[in-house]
Amino acid sequence: MKAIVVTDQAAGTAGMTLTQRPDPSPAINDVVVRVHASGFVPTEMDWPSTWTDRAGRDKTPSIPGHELAGVVTALGYGATGLSVGQRVFGLTDWHRDGTLAELVAVEARNLAPLPGDVDFTVAASLPISGLTAWQGLFRHGRLQPGQTVLAHGAAGAVGTMVTQLAREAGAHVIGTGRAADRAKALAFGAHEFVDLADDALADVGSVDLVFDVIGGDVQRQSAALIKPGGTLVSVVGPVEARPTDGLAVDFVVEADRAELAEIVQRVRDGRLRTNIGAVATLDDAVAALNPTTRRNGKTIISLVP
Ligand SMILES: NC(=O)c1ccc[n+]([C@@H]2O[C@H](COP(=O)([O-])OP(=O)(O)OC[C@H]3O[C@@H](n4cnc5c(N)ncnc54)[C@H](OP(=O)(O)O)[C@@H]3O)[C@@H](O)[C@H]2O)c1
Repeated sequence: MKAIVVTDQAAGTAGMTLTQRPDPSPAINDVVVRVHASGFVPTEMDWPSTWTDRAGRDKTPSIPGHELAGVVTALGYGATGLSVGQRVFGLTDWHRDGTLAELVAVEARNLAPLPGDVDFTVAASLPISGLTAWQGLFRHGRLQPGQTVLAHGAAGAVGTMVTQLAREAGAHVIGTGRAADRAKALAFGAHEFVDLADDALADVGSVDLVFDVIGGDVQRQSAALIKPGGTLVSVVGPVEARPTDGLAVDFVVEADRAELAEIVQRVRDGRLRTNIGAVATLDDAVAALNPTTRRNGKTIISLVP
């Protein structure tokens, strides 16, 4: 099969090459999926799981990309809940070969059925950003209607999902980002916008939930704004600052079939819009995923025209 591989961590995304790799074999409880569209998170080159297996052994050449939409082509021993020919989407194991490939082996439980009226390209953009937003707001942030959410990076892939889901849940959403992000963050549903370079974060007042995708000083300043009983949720590594009277949580997104179903239903209803910046073929993926040319929003690699 054709796949994008990386072998050199120092080279980062620039070290990606398109090559031939052996087709994957399904392990216990796996399915093999023909990938129709694949998503990729630009920071993947910094994740240890891109370079090692779960025992910490070098796994290069490694295939990046961990979200997909496609069609099941084979079932491994013991796989249940999905069938050959079924449309699916979801999140693959961080430590295994990923989805920038024509085929991928993935545990069936990490995937959800994909309704026939949702495009593969749209579906491939949902698992990481959608599940991250869902789990940060509802599982870890325990968001309630009427609360105020400070959504950092509100024009980004995760931030646009956070903004829409929080607003739908009845929260007041204050988005942040760069000056150029204002219109997009407001278009995705933020009630207010803070330009992190030019506006004072402290002026937003107190908030119930901070959803942080940036870290550093932004996180430290935000922790001080959290009301008693509120929560700081970070998806950019261990929390660097804690609210004085609240919770601080950092987490890595997990596959969840029921949550994927909630997310895709909202897309079908028009309640959730995805944030795709560019779509490229696998042959053009190396250039499309290069951060120097990357467009705002998710870059989706479409493998089947
Ligand atoms: N833990 C997890 O499970 C998990 C899951 C998904 C993502 N993540 C992490 O979350 C982060 C965001 O991911 P993403 O896919 O949403 O990325 P993204 O699409 O690039 O969105 C990030 C947004 O934040 C903005 N931003 C970043 N630094 C900023 C700053 N200092 N001031 C103002 N705006 C700033 C970016 O603007 P520019 O594009 O102009 O920089 C962009 O609009 C990444 O670090 C990713 O690795 C973690």
